[in-house]
Amino acid sequence: MQATPTQAPAPARTPETHRPVAVTGIQSSGRPHLGNYLGMIRPALALAGRHEVFYFIADAHALTTQRDGKAMRRHTHELAATWLALGVDPRRMTLYRQSDVPEVFELTWVLACHAGKGLLNRAHAYKAAAGANQAAGRPADHGVNTGVFAYPLLMAVDILALGAEVVPVGRDQKQHVEIACEIAAAFNAVRGPVLVSPEVLIDQRVATIPGLDGRKMSKSYGNTLPIFVEVDELRALVARIVTDSRPPEAPKDPDTCRLFARYRHLAQPGAVASMRSRYLEGGVSYREVKEELVGLLEAGFGPARVAYRALLADPAELDRVLAAGAERARTRAAPVMERVRDAVGLRAARASGTNGLGRAGGTALAGAEGLARAPDPAHPGETDPSA
Ligand code: TRP
Repeated sequence: MQATPTQAPAPARTPETHRPVAVTGIQSSGRPHLGNYLGMIRPALALAGRHEVFYFIADAHALTTQRDGKAMRRHTHELAATWLALGVDPRRMTLYRQSDVPEVFELTWVLACHAGKGLLNRAHAYKAAAGANQAAGRPADHGVNTGVFAYPLLMAVDILALGAEVVPVGRDQKQHVEIACEIAAAFNAVRGPVLVSPEVLIDQRVATIPGLDGRKMSKSYGNTLPIFVEVDELRALVARIVTDSRPPEAPKDPDTCRLFARYRHLAQPGAVASMRSRYLEGGVSYREVKEELVGLLEAGFGPARVAYRALLADPAELDRVLAAGAERARTRAAPVMERVRDAVGLRAARASGTNGLGRAGGTALAGAEGLARAPDPAHPGETDPSA
């Protein structure tokens, strides 16, 4: 299945050889659920082949909330096994652990010094936390660690460090990708064209899928449908999906039904169409739809679940896959970081003017010469970084 871009992906630079670079990550907190799969994992996997894909496990992001180191490593392995079971082929695609790429942390500080604090004040997640505190009569920042505040900054780094051109994400992450673009623009405005601004890619067919209870689907509400559960648990979870009390014979609205919201993303188009008309005409019971849904989930994820269990049984092999992936990610991140260091004047200048990506057009590049001409951050206008 093909994701529908909100905008056309960036045109290939050298049409013959260049595959656009796609980067996306998923936070390692808890079990991946149907929302993660439909909103991000499935569209991201669909990019492989025509894109050079990098998928990562955002353990540094999880650190904003995770207080148990053992659980952190376990979740990382679970997510690695998830990606692999769902179709990541490490020979053709790159899967890595965010914290295995040290450039991520280095770039975070440099970009923190270029990203407006006000930009992060406006991020949805932080605003929601501050709003909830205020509603409860507490100071806005009560219990909000600095990592939570800087979350979109770190996410911008994930994207910009690899020079991502396309970022497939679920709708809820759209603002974060926009913030990444703003941070790239703020950096480039001062330093010259060093960072690549990505396009966000959202599968338009997947509207936000509500949680089992009708609230926003969220691991923190415990209302998600994890994809790799055994069939008994699956049945119990599907049974919890809240419906109205219409009897089987009554006509029903498929577009407001939480069962149908899931069904239509999993069933074949013909089956979806006939289920839709059965809803409208009456004659289908929610119980029957629930059974069908369990069947679809079991058929769709059952085989991957078996693979998942086998992968998870060998964590050392998962670590090997992740380590090899991190090396590949670093082959992209290291030259970007070099260009950034050169542009801002951190560390000694490199001896040669090449950076592994070819000369970056017009940027103050490596070499003593480039460093001598690096702009003064306090007076950015005084030196032309593109001179
Ligand atoms: N914030 C994303 C989520 O919770 C995970 C993420 C971290 C990410 N860094 C990213 C996604 C960079 C895309 C690109 O799902």
